[in-house]
Amino acid sequence: MDVADARSLALALKSLLQQAHHLVDESQPPPELYVKVSDHVGGRLRDLVSVTLAFPEWEHVNLQRGVDAYLAAHSPQAEWFGVSGHGREHTDFMNLLAVSSRWERYEIGAVDYRTAATGPDEAVEVVTFGLVLTRAPDGAPIVLGMRGPAEMYGMEGCRVEILAASRSSATAARAEIERLMREHDVYRGQVLTFGFNEHRGNSVVSFFPRPALRPQDVILPEGVLETVERHVIGIAEHAEALRAHGQHLKRGLLLHGPPGTGKTHTVRYLMSRLPGVTVIVMSGPAMQFIGQAAGLARRLQPAVVVLEDVDLVAQDRSLMEDSSPLLFTLFDAMDGIGGDADVTFVLTTNRPEVLEDALANRPGRIDLAVEVPRPDAEARRALLRLYSRDLELRADLEPIVARTEGMTASFFKELLRRAVLVALREDGRVGALTDGHLSAALEEMMASREALTRSLLGSAPGDEEEGQGEEPPGFPAPGIAAARPGRVFLRPR
Ligand SMILES: Nc1ncnc2c1ncn2[C@@H]1O[C@H](COP(=O)(O)OP(=O)(O)OP(=O)(O)O)[C@@H](O)[C@H]1O
Ligand SMILES: [Mg+2]
Repeated sequence: MDVADARSLALALKSLLQQAHHLVDESQPPPELYVKVSDHVGGRLRDLVSVTLAFPEWEHVNLQRGVDAYLAAHSPQAEWFGVSGHGREHTDFMNLLAVSSRWERYEIGAVDYRTAATGPDEAVEVVTFGLVLTRAPDGAPIVLGMRGPAEMYGMEGCRVEILAASRSSATAARAEIERLMREHDVYRGQVLTFGFNEHRGNSVVSFFPRPALRPQDVILPEGVLETVERHVIGIAEHAEALRAHGQHLKRGLLLHGPPGTGKTHTVRYLMSRLPGVTVIVMSGPAMQFIGQAAGLARRLQPAVVVLEDVDLVAQDRSLMEDSSPLLFTLFDAMDGIGGDADVTFVLTTNRPEVLEDALANRPGRIDLAVEVPRPDAEARRALLRLYSRDLELRADLEPIVARTEGMTASFFKELLRRAVLVALREDGRVGALTDGHLSAALEEMMASREALTRSLLGSAPGDEEEGQGEEPPGFPAPGIAAARPGRVFLRPR
């Protein structure tokens, strides 16, 4: 048999197979899935058009809320249904439905869900693979197909496909879902962190309870907290009037000072003072998502974006030779928000000098820089009282105050905890804290074997000459913390 013969035999066989397939196809009733959807849209599924609304994973919960609100408005009785069949994850809904009448035989199945947080303690079910029949704003029948992230199949974000007979019906539905999504945004008014999923390299957003700190919980040199509050909260309170007079609302605050002096603590105090304001906290590698975070802040304003320990980002030269691309990305994101947006950027750092050039080159990013210094004698007294909490201090504080010069605020928190432990150990109960308890705790912390703890808690080495709060808040502040301990990124405490 020559090649031509073989070819004609193959062609004949192919045609026979096609006819056989056609025969089988014709003789079977079309699958339920096909019937359900084509009955709804009143036509051939292959003639539908599809438009898609796609988002990163962390928007899945908002997409679900947008779709829920849409369904409530246009088809309150509509019910989700799923699809079963091999390979459904590898194709879009359009194709899946179009071929559902043929040999792939996709069938109606269970809806796939996962849970997604809607607050610090609440979560809802969101559809990761499912369909629902509804109507476009113009009344035309449409199909919505929703998919969430499916790691196994390389599907990263989430999306809704809208299938309709006409493009205009589909795009009108898409616009309305998007609008409703924004209206029902679960992130509005919440305290959020942008995290970084190293495994998948994408961003994740988590909720945190809003701290509840009172002004007396924050021990700072006189006037510092008021200055910070006036800048962040004062502007927010007068947002409308400022806007009306063409004044810009966007503001940048830099809190700088040695570790453990209360920068994060001050930020947490601001959060408690701003109920209902969206707060987005970013640190470490998650800062690469600053663009997304800034977009979220603009959308959900009034908002505060907290950039913790920015000096670490400024020093990250891993991606570019002689400058820090992440720092530029960060500043670009700050610049990218219009001045009329009620968005505050709060930056914290141990090393303002690292940021100096970048900030000096483009004024307007930081309009207030405040030093958070180590506590002076008066502040140390106040810290001893604060962290003794409800326990009576039956002690002369002066010797302790004198011996703790140069220690940070966080040192006192630990000192008092140890004093309580000493009391428990010695007396088996805690009544009042005495000189004995306090000095034993201090001895413990001062002992050389505790040197590491001391450095981790950020106490000043004796030879360092640093501001103790005498300098007025200002920027740049020279000679800030030369050495700093190695760090772990800490979530808000
Ligand atoms: N000024 C302060 N007044 C009262 N408590 C404080 C103060 N500063 C720190 N603390 C206590 O010490 C803890 C650690 O301080 P905080 O995390 O605010 O330090 P930080 O300045 O942000 O340090 P780092 O540079 O290491 O981030 C706080 O959670 C708080 O309990
Ligand atoms: Mg901090």
